[in-house]
Amino acid sequence: MAVLVLGGAGYIGSHTVDRLVENGYDVVVVDNLVTGHVDAINKKARFYEGDVRDKEFLSGVFDKEDIEGVIHFAAFSVVPESMEKPLKYFDNNTGGMITLLEVMHDHDVKKIVFSSTAATYGEPKQIPIKETDPQVPTNPYGESKLAMEKIMHWSDMAYGIKFVALRYFNVAGAKPDGTIGEDHNPETHLVPIILQVAAGERKELTIFGDDYDTKDGTNVRDYVHVVDLADAHILALEYLKKGNDSQAFNLGSSTGFSNKEILEAAREATGKPIPAKMGPRRAGDPSTLIASSEKAREILGWDPQFDDVREIIKTAWNWKVGHPNGYNDKKGN
Ligand code: UFG
Repeated sequence: MAVLVLGGAGYIGSHTVDRLVENGYDVVVVDNLVTGHVDAINKKARFYEGDVRDKEFLSGVFDKEDIEGVIHFAAFSVVPESMEKPLKYFDNNTGGMITLLEVMHDHDVKKIVFSSTAATYGEPKQIPIKETDPQVPTNPYGESKLAMEKIMHWSDMAYGIKFVALRYFNVAGAKPDGTIGEDHNPETHLVPIILQVAAGERKELTIFGDDYDTKDGTNVRDYVHVVDLADAHILALEYLKKGNDSQAFNLGSSTGFSNKEILEAAREATGKPIPAKMGPRRAGDPSTLIASSEKAREILGWDPQFDDVREIIKTAWNWKVGHPNGYNDKKGN
């Protein structure tokens, strides 16, 4: 039986496909390649190019393959873009989930692991954030993912489709051998932007705000390595295969780093000076996001291997040095 990975050509999806293959799973990938890269997909996976919202196409994949469970990454994930184009996010993310669950229900597939986000919490009420904390998103991206969690909940009630929602905090790094990594166009995330400056592709980093109520005035985030994150999806799938109930889990390191600290760590990891300046706050940025990941450790047995942010950045730098222009299929998106 096969595991179907939707969005398996994206950053986190491709690392998860790779780990699944390394662990001996039979893997099927669906991706529309709007933001994903075909070269990121492990060659041992069977790839179908198409859109999650295309019910006929998706049903065809389920007809052809013997799917035991689904891992669903296929979504847009740029917060500022979601503020400008909310309907694009509800259509692709939330709409895509409805089609997927319909097709799963039609084909009697009862397990789904879903990439949710810390953005479903909005401005946290307490630090570290627990899974039981209120979910009040402050942007359409987070709202689209929260709606997806709720749709899964009601599909569980009605059809018995069990789910695990993994709420990621800040993901960074690349496969340590440097063969796959992060390649977004345009890039909006802190670590890859810092590495573009280190590589001389950008003049300098602009840090968005230094007047927050944090240790050095810059935002604090919780960084987790992409391979550790990928492994959490495999644990979640195994958890569902054992017949366990639907659950949500935070995935972070439980340690906060400020943007200034990340910059300093990147200077150490790359040996480059990385010029930076202060700029105004970016709309919608919560001051501090740190996860309590105790639940994932206890229930899933998740044991992240990367606990040093410099080591995380080094793996991203290794990918960057080997692939200065990212993957070869350049496109604007
Ligand atoms: N930042 C800068 N300069 C830049 C880019 C980012 O200072 O050029 C700062 C941001 O303001 C923020 C921090 O770096 O303080 C991290 O920003 P990212 O864009 O890398 O990540 P976010 O924390 O905004 O977003 C992450 C995920 C989202 C998720 C969100 C939850 O990437 O998918 O956490 O709030 F929605």
